[in-house]
Amino acid sequence: VPRVFSGIQPTSDSFHLGNYLGALRQWVALQDTSDAFYCVVDLHAITVDHDPKVLHERSRVSAAQLLALGIDPERSTLFVQSQVPEHAMLAWIMGCETGFGEASRMTQFKDKSAKQERTTVGLFTYPILQVADILLYQTERVPVGEDQRQHLELSRDLAIRFNNTYGQTFTVPDVHIVKETATIKDLAEPEKKMSKSSASPRGCLYLLDEPNQMRKKVKSAVTDSEAEVRYDPDAKPGVSNLMNIYAALGNTTIEKLEAEYAGRGYGDFKGDLADVVADYLGPISARTKEFLADKAELDRILVKGAEKARHVASRTLAKAYKKVGFYPPA
Ligand code: TYM
Repeated sequence: VPRVFSGIQPTSDSFHLGNYLGALRQWVALQDTSDAFYCVVDLHAITVDHDPKVLHERSRVSAAQLLALGIDPERSTLFVQSQVPEHAMLAWIMGCETGFGEASRMTQFKDKSAKQERTTVGLFTYPILQVADILLYQTERVPVGEDQRQHLELSRDLAIRFNNTYGQTFTVPDVHIVKETATIKDLAEPEKKMSKSSASPRGCLYLLDEPNQMRKKVKSAVTDSEAEVRYDPDAKPGVSNLMNIYAALGNTTIEKLEAEYAGRGYGDFKGDLADVVADYLGPISARTKEFLADKAELDRILVKGAEKARHVASRTLAKAYKKVGFYPPA
């Protein structure tokens, strides 16, 4: 069975609909057909300003949300990155394989550093740590949203380069992106991707929002001055985004939606979508709270996950250490 790896940052109190449709839904689905490793990447989270207490809590809430969404620790390996030191160790090696110019071309770094008052070296080398995450598990497929494509290409490039220089060491990973939901757009500014740093409080729909809050956000989503439910991402980004969300959560298709809402305007369409979203995501809050309630059990799941992860990661790291001429980790 193919090896799958992916990660998510614990940088907010709740994941959002873009995280879910772009990545997490695929995480859940891939458990059936692969050997999956899923990681709460807290090392990545300190590349921007953070509060230690908040980070610690968010890592727990993140893990609980993943369990609530259907990540099954019996079938998948769920763990927190800081419990597996091999990630940072391999990142050092991969950093020494990466060109400075190559790292400088990462567009997420350019976007993120432009928004920070103070940019750290950690933010610059962030993609290299991500490469280490992926290569440590001899990963074949990485389910992510479109915004991670460039980092995945770097992972492939570095795996190939290392293998060419030192001999076969790493599996070259393939990106797994679902086209229809590769980029979920901001509900208030549909030209932009949905993100927690949305300028409008209505732009980002969080999985842990109250159902009524979800309904309000959907109903107030920006559309256009026509009144036609028609799929056209360039001319009608707002409506097309809502249609993508509807198709994904409502188990229907763009064609069926166009037929169903022909001549009916946006009010009906948004009202129905508001219910679909609230019904689908509503139960996640309560399930997350259940997983958070038993702290010892959650910690136990994560420690067990970290042990399973280390078992694989340490073997790959030992191989890489030998190849570059290091002493083995003692
Ligand atoms: P992060 O934490 O920003 O996001 C987690 C996942 O959600 C996807 N995503 C979206 N997909 C569609 N539409 C959106 N609006 C949207 N917003 C976010 C992201 O593409 C991602 O898949 N660098 C990664 C975390 C990471 C990682 C890894 C991923 C660290 N190591 C190794 C894969 C493999 C990140 O910041 O994701």
